[in-house]
Order: sequence, then structure tokens, then C-alpha cells
Amino acid sequence: MTTPLPDLDCDALTKRFGASTAVDHVSFSVRAGSFFSILGPSGCGKTTIMRMIAGFLEPSSGDIRIKGRSVLDVPPNKRPVNMVFQHLALFPMMNIADNIGYGLRRKGMTKPAIARKVDEALERIGLPGIGARRVDELSGGQKQRVAIARCMVLEPDVLLLDEPLGALDLKLREHMKVELKALQTAFDTTFVYITHDQSEALVMSDTIAVMNAGRFEQMGTARDLYYRPQTAFVAGFVGDANRWQGRVARAEGEALEIKTDTGLMLRAASPGRKLTVGDRAEVFVRPEAIRLAEDAAELAHFDTRISGHVATILFNGAASRVIVTDPSGADIGVTLPQSGEFAHLTRGAPIHVGWSGDQGNAFVMTRP
Ligand SMILES: Nc1ncnc2c1ncn2[C@@H]1O[C@H](COP(=O)(O)OP(=O)(O)O)[C@@H](O)[C@H]1O
Ligand SMILES: [Mg+2]
Repeated sequence: MTTPLPDLDCDALTKRFGASTAVDHVSFSVRAGSFFSILGPSGCGKTTIMRMIAGFLEPSSGDIRIKGRSVLDVPPNKRPVNMVFQHLALFPMMNIADNIGYGLRRKGMTKPAIARKVDEALERIGLPGIGARRVDELSGGQKQRVAIARCMVLEPDVLLLDEPLGALDLKLREHMKVELKALQTAFDTTFVYITHDQSEALVMSDTIAVMNAGRFEQMGTARDLYYRPQTAFVAGFVGDANRWQGRVARAEGEALEIKTDTGLMLRAASPGRKLTVGDRAEVFVRPEAIRLAEDAAELAHFDTRISGHVATILFNGAASRVIVTDPSGADIGVTLPQSGEFAHLTRGAPIHVGWSGDQGNAFVMTRP
């Protein structure tokens, strides 16, 4: 039995602009019908990758294959990909049906066939019968769906989406995350989605590549990246984390004791990373891994314990936080339990925090 070819393969894809390397030997495969995201800070090279895949920009080296065939010699309008940009660029002078049918008309499809395709697409995006409306009669979210439908009727092998939610307000963005995932499933199309917003990537993607300074740091599921970050960049970029810098004071296999530069002793793990005594290290601990107690004895079973006082309580529903100031004056963010047992805490109150060392994630610091 042969495994089906992935829809998209990038192989050591590289782009240099003069002396600077915007994309540096990036390799990945996107499984047919899956939702693949590239997540990274602004300027790390995401759009450059998309433009190379779409054919608007020639790679300096490396290869791009769609369904197993190199497309480097294929002009952009002949590549089986379509791109949705941050600014949707619907044609304001055309009605919705003409917007969706635009690409099909250019392909020379007959009017009745176009009408059928447009109706079908409107059905799929949950907006049946709105073909005659003008663009400015639609809400932001509806425009977004129309922009996607306009690409989907062309039946691309791969749909490229470059921060398509970037221009929307927060509430609509939350809603569109669910919507986009549903559209991707409904059209059964391969999505390559780029964003600097981790919550978009975490919610929608089957696979996420975290990108930094032109390179992929780690590729995996949202859970892999969140619970098993392989680099300090990923640990810091995906999800919230408290972080400390210090030096390894004791190492027993992967279990470490780290003395922070602020004088605290922390336990941490470093699965597969072989830190040794004396190494400079950075430790990450998720706010939800830390327990709070007013009585230090309640934390006796934890191997890492710090006493401090309450700096702030940030009420934000299920994601409420307590910020604890440690003896060095640094902040530790702790997720407030749902029970309400700490609802009475006030600023300045003495408080203790503790966690189990295997919840701490330590990385070698490259700079001494
Ligand atoms: N046409 C270009 N000429 C020179 N430098 C460019 C060009 N396009 C992008 N860059 C540079 O490449 C890097 C990556 O840009 P880009 O891919 O747009 O990042 P992102 O989409 O992740 O924000 C940036 O440093 C940017 O300034
Ligand atoms: Mg960009």
C-alpha cells in the first residue's frame, strides 16, 4: 500500500534578500485535507514563505512540491493554490455572487455553471440566497466568509491564508476561529494558515510550526507545543509562562536544581536536553501548574516552594490570575482556582506558592 502524497512539500526552502536571510532552510509537509499553521512573531518570515508557495517570489534555494510535483517553474496563476490576504479585497462595485464567481468567469466557465457553483458555495458558508446583495451590506464576518468562498469555488489544492483575521476586532476574531475551522472541514481543503496570534493557531490547527528568525523551531500539535516545548523560544512564545534565569546547581539525570540569578532555588526538568552543573539555564513554569496557599504547610509535598505576597488579582473569569511578588521583588503569575477559595485575598497579603519540579521546564541558555 502506498501512502497518499502530501498536498504540499517545502524542502529546505530559503529566501535571501541581499545579505539577510528571511527564510532559512525551512522544510515541512502538509497532509491533504489538514489545517497547517505557521506561528511566529512579526518579521520572522511567514509571508515570505507564503509568497514563494503562491509563486509571487522566487526562492533563493530549495523546492516546493504540490501533490508531489515541483511547481518552481509554474507561474502563479497556474499553481493549484489560492491566497486569502489580511485585507480581503472584495470588489465593492460587484454584488456577492459576482465576487464569488469572479475567478470562474476568468477561467471561462459558462454562466449557468458559475451560478450553480456560487449557489453551492453560499450554501456551504451558511449564507444562502445573498448573492444579489452588495458587499457593504455584509458584516465583517460575512465578508470574510465570502472572501473564502471566492477562493474555494476555484477548488485549489491548497488555500494559503495570511493573517486573514488580523483586521477584525477581538470578538469577531474569536467567532471566526470556529468558523474558519468549520469551513476548512466543510470544503475538505488543505489550509496553510499564518499568524502571529498563538490562540488562533492553537484552536484551529492540526499541525503548527513555530517560526523564529527565518527558521522553524518546532512542529507539532497544539498539545505538543504547549506541554512539550523543545526550545526556550517555543516555551516562551506558546502559552503563558513564568520564567527565571539562573545556573544549574545540581543535576540528577533530567531532574535539576537551579539557583536563579535572584537567589531562589527551583526544581525543574529538562527532558532530552542534558543540562549539567554550572550550565546557564532558563526555567519556564506555566501559571496553571503553580498552587497557592495561605498556610505554607499545605505545600509541603511540593519540591519547589516560594513565599511572597499578593501584588495584584486580575479577575478575568476562568483565566483569573494572582500576581505574587517573590522575595527578590519579581512577579510570579498564578492561575486562580475556580473554587473561589482565594476570593478574599487582598493586595499585600502574605502568600505561598509551590509546584512540582517536573512542571518546570529548563533550557540551556545560549548566551552566558
Ligand atoms: N521584498 C523584500 N525585500 C527585502 N526584505 C524583505 C522583503 N520582503 C520581506 N523582507 C524582510 O524579510 C523578513 C521577513 O518578512 P515577512 O516574511 O514579511 O515576515 P512576517 O510575515 O513573518 O511578518 C523581514 O525582515 C522583512 O523586512
Ligand atoms: Mg506577514
